[in-house]
Amino acid sequence: MASSLNRLKFVYWLSFLSTFHLIATRSFSFVQPLCHGHERSYLLQFKQSFVINKTASIDPSAYPKVASWTLEGNNSDCCSWDRVECDEFNGHVIGLDLHSSYLYGSINSSSSLFNLVHLRSLNLADNHFNYSQIPSTVSNLSKLTHLNLSGSMFSSQIPLEFSQLSQMSSLDLSLNHLEIKKPSLGHLAENLTRLENLDLSWVSIISIVPNNLGNLSSLTSLRLSDCQLNGEFPIGIFKLPNLRVLDVQFNEGLTGYLPDFQWSSPLEEIILANTNLSGKLPSSIGNLGSLTKIDMKSCNFSGFIPSSLGNLTNLNFLDLSFNTFKGHIPSSFGNLIQLSFLSLMDNELTSPIPFEFANLTQLTYLFLYNNFISGQIPSGLMNLTKLSILELAVNDLTGQIPSSIFNLENLELLDLSMNNFTAKVEFDKFVKLKKLTSLHLSNCGVSLSISETSDNTTLQKFQNLGLFRCNLSKFPNFLANQDELTWLDLGDNNIHGQVPEWFWNVSKENLELIDLSYNFLTSLGQHPILLPWTHLAILDLESNKFQGTLPIPSFSTLQYLVSNNSFTGKIPELICNMSSLQVLDLSINNLSGSLPQCLHNFGDSLLILDLRWNAFEGNIPQAWTSGSKLMMINFSQNKFQGLLPRSLAKCIMLKALDFSNNQFNDTFPTWLGNLPNLKLLILRSNEFYGPIWTHKAKYKFPSLQIFDL
Ligand SMILES: *[C@@H]1O[C@H](CO)[C@@H](O)[C@H](O)[C@H]1NC(C)=O
Ligand SMILES: *[C@@H]1O[C@H](CO)[C@@H](O)[C@H](O)[C@H]1NC(C)=O
Ligand SMILES: *[C@@H]1O[C@H](CO)[C@@H](O)[C@H](O)[C@H]1NC(C)=O
Ligand SMILES: *[C@@H]1O[C@H](CO)[C@@H](O)[C@H](O)[C@H]1NC(C)=O
Ligand SMILES: *[C@@H]1O[C@H](CO)[C@@H](O)[C@H](O)[C@H]1NC(C)=O
Ligand SMILES: *[C@@H]1O[C@H](CO)[C@@H](O)[C@H](O)[C@H]1NC(C)=O
Ligand SMILES: *[C@@H]1O[C@H](CO)[C@@H](O)[C@H](O)[C@H]1NC(C)=O
Ligand SMILES: *[C@@H]1O[C@H](CO)[C@@H](O)[C@H](O)[C@H]1NC(C)=O
Ligand SMILES: *[C@@H]1O[C@H](CO)[C@@H](O)[C@H](O)[C@H]1NC(C)=O
Ligand SMILES: *[C@@H]1O[C@H](CO)[C@@H](O)[C@H](O)[C@H]1NC(C)=O
Ligand SMILES: *[C@@H]1O[C@H](CO)[C@@H](O)[C@H](O)[C@H]1NC(C)=O
Ligand SMILES: *[C@@H]1O[C@H](CO)[C@@H](O)[C@H](O)[C@H]1NC(C)=O
Repeated sequence: MASSLNRLKFVYWLSFLSTFHLIATRSFSFVQPLCHGHERSYLLQFKQSFVINKTASIDPSAYPKVASWTLEGNNSDCCSWDRVECDEFNGHVIGLDLHSSYLYGSINSSSSLFNLVHLRSLNLADNHFNYSQIPSTVSNLSKLTHLNLSGSMFSSQIPLEFSQLSQMSSLDLSLNHLEIKKPSLGHLAENLTRLENLDLSWVSIISIVPNNLGNLSSLTSLRLSDCQLNGEFPIGIFKLPNLRVLDVQFNEGLTGYLPDFQWSSPLEEIILANTNLSGKLPSSIGNLGSLTKIDMKSCNFSGFIPSSLGNLTNLNFLDLSFNTFKGHIPSSFGNLIQLSFLSLMDNELTSPIPFEFANLTQLTYLFLYNNFISGQIPSGLMNLTKLSILELAVNDLTGQIPSSIFNLENLELLDLSMNNFTAKVEFDKFVKLKKLTSLHLSNCGVSLSISETSDNTTLQKFQNLGLFRCNLSKFPNFLANQDELTWLDLGDNNIHGQVPEWFWNVSKENLELIDLSYNFLTSLGQHPILLPWTHLAILDLESNKFQGTLPIPSFSTLQYLVSNNSFTGKIPELICNMSSLQVLDLSINNLSGSLPQCLHNFGDSLLILDLRWNAFEGNIPQAWTSGSKLMMINFSQNKFQGLLPRSLAKCIMLKALDFSNNQFNDTFPTWLGNLPNLKLLILRSNEFYGPIWTHKAKYKFPSLQIFDL
């Protein structure tokens, strides 16, 4: 959610910047009378009620526009002040554009701003009004036609008086901490009948979308993104005769269907992403010939993709990802020659990629990830010379990798993982794509040969290399000079012997994932106990032949997997510093000694703890904490002794517990019987004694499915 909010912020930011650009280039120069003295003093009072604070605006071109508002020198004509617009006939102040002006401070209903009763246009966007409420005296500004308070730290309920601003044609309250309850959105729509642009994104509305929005016949742009709207979306809104932009994304509670578009419409952007709208895409959507952007990502749409979409030749952005569309990709898409972004990711599409895609020469981003797309990659894709991201992973693609792919010189990311090619490819060919920094060929039927002679100093800096199951037989030497890698997956290849010494210097500050699992590696060589990668999140060394003491990855590591090796010795105490650990799998090694007492300190982040098949001994730590998210603990096949820690009863997320084949000497743990999710409990081959069930029957084991004594 945080990242989608950030993305949303970014999108808003871009649209904000372009609006700003238009405003900034508008000219205010005309001959006019001098300003009215009382209005001048209102402006000065308004200025003085704020401090200038550079953190109050985020636009990089912000500056303190009120700085020029001063009586000094020859400057008393307030109509000549920066961003003050006066009526050219009577000299009244009719426009103020103080967006991105570093204004910081509270504003209340006695603010002199509300004496400027001739104002028609007021822009205070991108300042910091210190969580003020919008004052009720805003209704004094009864001539307002344009009001922009976007991103300016207003909070609470908008005042009832707002609905008196009946001249309003453009209203932007987005990106604040505002609520709309009383007046409701329906009440606003009743009175603000001249609205052309309405942006309430991020305003907490928490209601259904009122039908009477469909009566606002002047509306050209309606943005209600992330307003916690729910209920069925009114069809009438689609029918608004002038609507060009409809954006209701990020309202997960919003349901409804697309209508049969048997009318012509100026709609250019239809943005329904992350709502719960469902049903089919009507074939009549092909009538909306002005559409340039369709974003229906993460909705609930299903059925076939209508071939009429191919009639929308102005489209440059089409995102139907994360729905359940089935059938083939219509060949009519070959007509969408303006398309630069196409995502059909995460649907149930079948059949080959239409060869007509060769027509899409503007395409820059193509995402077909996770469908059932079959056949070969069409060689015509070579015509897509602008392609920067080609994401075809998790499909049923077969055959060779067409050589035409190696002509896509703007490719930055190529992902072919999880397909069924039968191809031998030389790594050198990818290296010739100089912008390529993310290459994923994991588990797709490609055998990769990396030549020894390739000049490793002139290679591009890769960020992501997914080479799981690519039939590699050597540690790739070119990695020695790669210092920007964040993701390195060499799992399930045929790499034998020792990890090369230089490996400890590869991308020390950047690597987040290292997967060397399922190879034949015998030694980590001379390595420090604490491995050098400072940002590591996942280290997977599983199923090799590693020996020696257990290394400790970066303290930031989330998942540490070394199962099925031959590590020996105790678990180093340093492991206690890995405070974010979620998965610790040390199973099937020759580790011994007692466990560090800190083990329960992982409590709050640890989900899975697997120590089975080692030679650990002694008691297990006693103090497990409530708030723990632990779901699975496996201590089986060790030499643990003593009592089971009673505090395990606090780990209420536990689903599986295996203590088998140890030397625990305890009574039956009836006290585990209140764990609501415990499905599996294995105690076999220990020295447990005493009765299994107490008469009190207080403990119920409500979810138990497998129980092995
Ligand atoms: C409104 O704010 C001004 C400062 O700008 C302050 O002097 C005044 O007391 C405030 N009035 C109320 C009713 O809070
Ligand atoms: C500037 O504004 C920030 C909030 O954006 C506030 O935390 C800070 O205290 C302000 N500094 C001054 C000097 O007013
Ligand atoms: C003020 O501006 C007027 C007209 O531009 C000019 O004649 C006058 O000399 C200026 N006075 C000062 C003090 O700059
Ligand atoms: C911001 O609001 C707080 C709480 O209402 C107030 O104490 C503080 O003085 C305000 N800061 C400014 C700069 O107006
Ligand atoms: C609002 O307008 C009324 C007259 O319509 C005026 O008396 C009052 O002072 C104004 N309030 C403000 C804060 O400007
Ligand atoms: C609509 O506007 C009129 C006139 O300004 C006002 O009297 C009325 O209360 C408003 N209606 C609502 C629902 O606010
Ligand atoms: C595209 O539009 C034309 C008329 O403009 C129509 O005849 C044709 O059937 C449409 N094609 C599709 C696939 O809907
Ligand atoms: C390519 O686009 C043109 C329109 O520019 C269209 O006439 C042609 O049918 C398309 N070709 C394919 C194969 O879709
Ligand atoms: C692809 O490009 C080649 C060479 O530029 C051209 O001959 C061919 O017609 C193009 N194919 C399509 C479908 O545009
Ligand atoms: C991959 O293709 C081979 C034949 O080329 C076939 O036997 C196998 O079932 C396919 N695997 C998958 C997962 O489709
Ligand atoms: C590539 O780099 C490795 C490690 O630095 C080095 O051993 C090898 O000789 C280099 N190969 C070439 C061709 O430069
Ligand atoms: C188990 O513990 C009980 C009580 O502490 C003790 O009497 C018994 O000898 C122990 N059994 C074994 C096999 O160590």
